[in-house]
Amino acid sequence: MLAELFEDLKHELRGAMVQRKHPFKYITLTTVGNDNAPRSRTVVLREVDETLNCIIFTDARTVKVEQLKSNPNACILAYHPKKMLQLRLNGRLIPVNSDKEQKRLFHKVGANSLKDYTTLQTPGTEISNPDEVAYVTRDENHFLPLRFEPDSIEYLRLKRPNHLRALYCKDNEWNGSWLVP
Ligand SMILES: Cc1cc2nc3c(=O)[nH]c(=O)nc-3n(C[C@H](O)[C@H](O)[C@H](O)COP(=O)(O)O)c2cc1C
Repeated sequence: MLAELFEDLKHELRGAMVQRKHPFKYITLTTVGNDNAPRSRTVVLREVDETLNCIIFTDARTVKVEQLKSNPNACILAYHPKKMLQLRLNGRLIPVNSDKEQKRLFHKVGANSLKDYTTLQTPGTEISNPDEVAYVTRDENHFLPLRFEPDSIEYLRLKRPNHLRALYCKDNEWNGSWLVP
């Protein structure tokens, strides 16, 4: 049963790649700064590989990138409303530095989305009017893919008569145990 649940969570996470309106397309990513204050934001889940490593695209100048330099610990939260399924993934967030991999991922960025990585001013800079935002050229973009490597995943599914809660930890391979919901 623990193995089935793990297959289910894997299927759902990877489902976000193939099903257009899958609820795990948008996930909550939390990082922690030097001040120990957690900071959460919505991001798009771009890729999930067989080992459940996840790819996220961002602007290299964002706070999350600054934070992961001093503290790579991060948490991803995903919620599937129809299944009442919550996944909490804890692990490390690492910039994808390989040129080859960066290029492969950059090719996945649509023409409209490229704009998101080309603001002249750093994201989060205070402005007096939204029209004030200027853009640099495509070649000067600040696109940065990040890889999230989970080392534990908590599965919680609310259902009657019994809720299901399990924790999977990675130690060469994934091992699961049941938790009281
Ligand atoms: C629907 C939605 C999708 C988003 N997708 C991304 C994304 O894929 N990557 C990203 O860096 N920010 C994304 N954002 C913006 C983030 O939520 C956040 O505002 C931004 O990354 C700056 O966060 P930070 O300053 O904490 O680093 C998205 C926001 C929304 C509302």
